[in-house]
Amino acid sequence: MKPTLLIVDDDQGILTQMKWALDPDYEIVSAEDRPGAIESFKAAHPAVTLLDLGLPPRPNESEEGLAALADLLAIDRAAKIIVISGQSEKKNAIQAVGAGAYDFLCKPIDVDELKLLLRRCVYVSDLEKGYLEMQQKLRADIFENMLGTSPQMQGVFAYIRKVATTSAPVLLLGESGTGKEMAASAIHRCSSRKNGAFIAINCNSIPENLLESELFGHEKGAFTGAHIQRKGLIENSAEGTLFLDEIGELPPQIQVKLLRFLQDQRFQRVGGRQEIQIDTRIVAATNADLKDTVAKGKFREDLYFRLAVVVIKLPPLRERGQDVELLAREFLQQFAVQCDKGNLAFTPDALNAIRRHTWPGNVRELQNRVKRATIMAENRRVTANDLELLPHGSESVPRATLKEARESVERELVEQALKRHSGRVTPAASELGVSRPTLYELMDKLGITKGESKAQAAADAGATFEVQKS
Ligand SMILES: Nc1ncnc2c1ncn2[C@@H]1O[C@H](COP(=O)(O)OP(=O)(O)OP(=O)(O)O)[C@@H](O)[C@H]1O
Ligand SMILES: [Mg+2]
Repeated sequence: MKPTLLIVDDDQGILTQMKWALDPDYEIVSAEDRPGAIESFKAAHPAVTLLDLGLPPRPNESEEGLAALADLLAIDRAAKIIVISGQSEKKNAIQAVGAGAYDFLCKPIDVDELKLLLRRCVYVSDLEKGYLEMQQKLRADIFENMLGTSPQMQGVFAYIRKVATTSAPVLLLGESGTGKEMAASAIHRCSSRKNGAFIAINCNSIPENLLESELFGHEKGAFTGAHIQRKGLIENSAEGTLFLDEIGELPPQIQVKLLRFLQDQRFQRVGGRQEIQIDTRIVAATNADLKDTVAKGKFREDLYFRLAVVVIKLPPLRERGQDVELLAREFLQQFAVQCDKGNLAFTPDALNAIRRHTWPGNVRELQNRVKRATIMAENRRVTANDLELLPHGSESVPRATLKEARESVERELVEQALKRHSGRVTPAASELGVSRPTLYELMDKLGITKGESKAQAAADAGATFEVQKS
C-alpha cells in the first residue's frame, strides 16, 4: 500500500507539478488553505504532510502556514510535517522546525531532494508507529500501575497475584525506591479487601510515645492531651490493609503488641481494658536486613516469623535488564505531558548513561532524574547531562589498568563492528582489519556472542530513531 501524502499549497501550478512527480509513490491528497488542510488531515491520516507556509489569505507571509502547523500538531503530536517556504522566509521555516515540523525545504524545490526527504520521513514515521505499538504491548505488562517486563518483575507480579487471594501477612524486602509501597498497594487492590481502606504508615516517622496510640488508638484520658477516645490505624483499616513501612524501626514495646495482634487479631487501645478484635491484613516492608536486626537483638524473632509468612523481594533496578529504559521512557512521556513539553526523546548518550548507571536510589532516583531532565531539556532532547549522569565512558577510565583499558577499547570496537553488520563476522572482521579467526578469538576472549550484538543492534535501532524523531 502506498503511503498517503497530504500537500497543502494554494499554488495550482506547484500542486500539479508535485502530484505528477510523486504520484507513482504516494497516495496524494491536497488542500489549498488552513481549514481545508485540517479537514483533509483528519480524514486521510497522511503519513507525511507537505505544508506551504504562505497560505491564503496572506500568501506572502508565514503566519497562516505556522498556524496550520500548530493545528495539525494539536490533532496529532507525532504528525510528520515538512514545511515549504520561499528563500526569504527561511527564518520562519526554521522556526517551524522548532515548533515541531519534521523538516523544511526552500523553493524552488528540487524534486530529487524532496523525494529523498519524503522517503526518510515515511521511514521514521513507520518506525515510530512500530515503536508505539511495541510500547502499547509493553503497557499490557503494567500491573496495578507497576511497570516491568523483566522476568524478575513478572515473577513479583505473579507472586502478588497469588498472595492477594489470602489474608496472610506479607513482608516486602527491597532497597529504597524499588517500589515496596506500590507493591503493598497492589496486594491490597488485587485482594478481596480492595473495597476496604489501604492505610500506610512509616514506623520511623512518628515518635515512639505517639506511635502506639497511632496504631492501636487510645481511650479518653489515657494520657495528658487524650481528651477524647480515638481509634487507631488498625481499627481504621478494618476489612482493609495496613502497610507498616520501615518495620525494622518498630520499638520493642510495640513489637510485643503487634505480635499479639498478629497471633489472635486482638488488642487494647492505649489506656483501655477492652479487647478489640479487628480483621485487617498486615503488609510490612523494610530496606534493612531484618534478619540481621533480629540477630542483633533489636527485632523479635517471633514477630519476624509472624510477619514473614510470605516474603516478596523487590529486585534493585540495576537487576531488571531493559526495564530501566522502559521506565525511563514512560516517565519521560509522563513528565513531558505534565510540563507541556511535547515530544521529548533521549539522545543515544543519555540512553547509554541510563544503561550504565547503577541506580542506587532505584526507581525513585530514575523518576527524579527524568523529572529534572524534562525541565532542563532543550530542543526536544534529553541528554546525559540533563540527567546529571556522566556520558558514556567517562566514569570507568580513570581507575582502569592498562589491560582493562585495552580490553574495554577492543570490546567497544568489536561490538560496534558486529552491530553495524548485524552480527555477521566476515564483514565485521574485514572492517576491523583482522582475519575471521582472529575476530573469533577476540570475541571468545571478551565473552562477546553474535547474538548479543544483534540484540544490541535492534535496541539501538530504537535509539537512532528517537534521534531522528526530534
Ligand atoms: N515498577 C514501577 N513502575 C512504575 N513506577 C514505579 C515502579 N516502582 C516504583 N515506582 C515509582 O517509584 C517511586 C518509589 O516507589 P515506592 O515508594 O513504592 O518505593 P519504596 O520501595 O517504598 O521506597 P522507600 O524504600 O524509599 O520507601 C514511586 O514514585 C513509585 O510510583
Ligand atoms: Mg516506601
